[in-house]
Amino acid sequence: MRLGQPLMLSAKIHRGTPGNLRRLARVLQRGGLVAVPTETVYGLAANALDGAACGRIFRAKRRPANDPLIVHVADLSMLGRIAESNGAVAKLARAFWPGPLTLVLHRTQVVPDVVTAGLSSVAVRMPAHPLLRRLLRLTGLPLAAPSANPFGYVSPTTAAHVRDGLGSAIAHILDGGPCRHGLESTIVDVRNPRRPMLLRPGVITAEQLARVLGVPVRARSQRRNPAIPVVAPGLMARHYSPLRPLCTHRRISAAMVARASPDEAWICFRQPDWAGTAPNVFWLSTHGDLDQAGRRLFALLRRLDLGAWTRLHAELAPAHGPGLAINDRLRRAAAK
Ligand code: TXA
Ligand code: MG
Repeated sequence: MRLGQPLMLSAKIHRGTPGNLRRLARVLQRGGLVAVPTETVYGLAANALDGAACGRIFRAKRRPANDPLIVHVADLSMLGRIAESNGAVAKLARAFWPGPLTLVLHRTQVVPDVVTAGLSSVAVRMPAHPLLRRLLRLTGLPLAAPSANPFGYVSPTTAAHVRDGLGSAIAHILDGGPCRHGLESTIVDVRNPRRPMLLRPGVITAEQLARVLGVPVRARSQRRNPAIPVVAPGLMARHYSPLRPLCTHRRISAAMVARASPDEAWICFRQPDWAGTAPNVFWLSTHGDLDQAGRRLFALLRRLDLGAWTRLHAELAPAHGPGLAINDRLRRAAAK
């Protein structure tokens, strides 16, 4: 290779065999990057205690340095190294970990500034995917991992999605199959356990958190109040965007589709009885199941981006349970 030529990596997809897991654990211990499966979406992992390794995550994703990372831990003793625990952590961990819930806590000194974007807090999650749990135990390290997509694009829910977006920027992808939930984790700020704040909806809802905590969980105000600093830029309006313009609708009807141009695509929440074989009508669920719809949302947006559609239309999900997270992602994808 001649000097000055950009290093072109071509990501290899590894099956989760014991030998591969040991090799990938060594890559992480030496400061390398590995894309990993989680039960929510695929993440791009590095040793969370190694600032230089985490810097590589930002470069591979082209993520702005002011957008902090989530740190994944194997157990509560690993959490204790990077964050200050409190009563809320114990309750939520018992109810929801390992699982799709991220807690924002006060950080300890060992966490490099690059991980938290200089904030005094750190976001922590104990993931449930068995391959990632094995990798966490083999490395013995907390792993920082944002979603494994180029910054601003739809999160990946299969190993092939990761390769499509980051294949030339990283060397290793661990294949753990399609993600069980397909939506990023719920994020709740519990630095003050008496006033928990929901920062990002996910399949675990604010009501479920409130029941466990015994206090209401308020959503961070959607409207931008200039007096309140943005907690994290990744939580701002436009995010998760497909390449095509997208509009959301309360309901999609046969008449709306008939009136529009045939090169616009329609994403119904459930399979409509009027769809027939129309090539431009799609759906997230067969019978209205919210979990199935969540699992399929990002994969469908990616598939439609490959088509020649001029515009996407998406029907909002029923506004309860995981439907709230689906609608949050659809509204962000539609934000100008
Ligand atoms: O399900 C998930 O959470 C996936 C998997 C890989 O674990 N990860 C994920 O990471 O969605 P990412 O980076 O795409 O989204 C993390 C969000 C960002 O919007 C970031 O701003 C926010 O978490 N965040 C991280 N640290 C924070 C902090 N200290 N305070 C508030 N928000 C924080
Ligand atoms: Mg992301």
